[in-house]
Amino acid sequence: MFHPEVFANHEQMSLRAVVEMEQQLRSRPDSLLCLATGTTPMRAYELLQQRFASCRERLATTRIVKLDEWGGIAMDDPESCEQYLQRTWIEPFGMQGRYLSFSSEAADPEDECLRVAGELERQGPIDLCILGLGLNGHVGFNEPAEFLHPHAHVAKLSATSMGHAMSVRARTRPTHGLTLGMADILNARRILLMVSGASKRPVVQRLLSGRIATQFPASLLIANPNTVLLCDEEAFAS
Ligand code: GLP
Repeated sequence: MFHPEVFANHEQMSLRAVVEMEQQLRSRPDSLLCLATGTTPMRAYELLQQRFASCRERLATTRIVKLDEWGGIAMDDPESCEQYLQRTWIEPFGMQGRYLSFSSEAADPEDECLRVAGELERQGPIDLCILGLGLNGHVGFNEPAEFLHPHAHVAKLSATSMGHAMSVRARTRPTHGLTLGMADILNARRILLMVSGASKRPVVQRLLSGRIATQFPASLLIANPNTVLLCDEEAFAS
């Protein structure tokens, strides 16, 4: 069962996430971090960027893997997960050579997922996985379904995902998702699931019910004892 850590607001929750990331980077500078994009972790990434601005060398060996990507949009679309991570991590910390990323424009997305899966097998497991939570309980683009995929795969995007602000604002509509799989995530040494805002209340309640179902992918995270659930008060209805 999750014992959520509840914070007064998004800012406080973000500060807590930064502490977690700093501890990880201090104890193991060459950590492999898996990073979600979206609204929820943005502030934590900004704060981390500020903290490390004067000591970039502390991230000189840190590695990043992109959790997921909108398939069929341009890599240079400002709404791509790619541009988001370039802005928040890769460019500020000069991590170009230490970054494993799905291409949104791969001619063969299945092949692209095989490439990422192979590389993650070589580099993994993930040390710290930062996750957001979809309104339908998805993590990455592991969408509710009868069965889930263990490793990197092409995802059929749900209506919920297609309605996500990044998808709506992108220059072209995504045609599919590319995502790490549930085993990749569950094998992480530590998982930080961040949830913010009143719109996420029903999904947090369902998560706290403790029932594990593939139709609610985030519930599988309960199986990893090293998962920490961070909520702000708006998302956590007691
Ligand atoms: C998106 C992404 C996830 C993200 C989640 C929540 O669709 N696939 O990686 O974490 O939904 O996004 P947000 O934090 O903007 O609510």
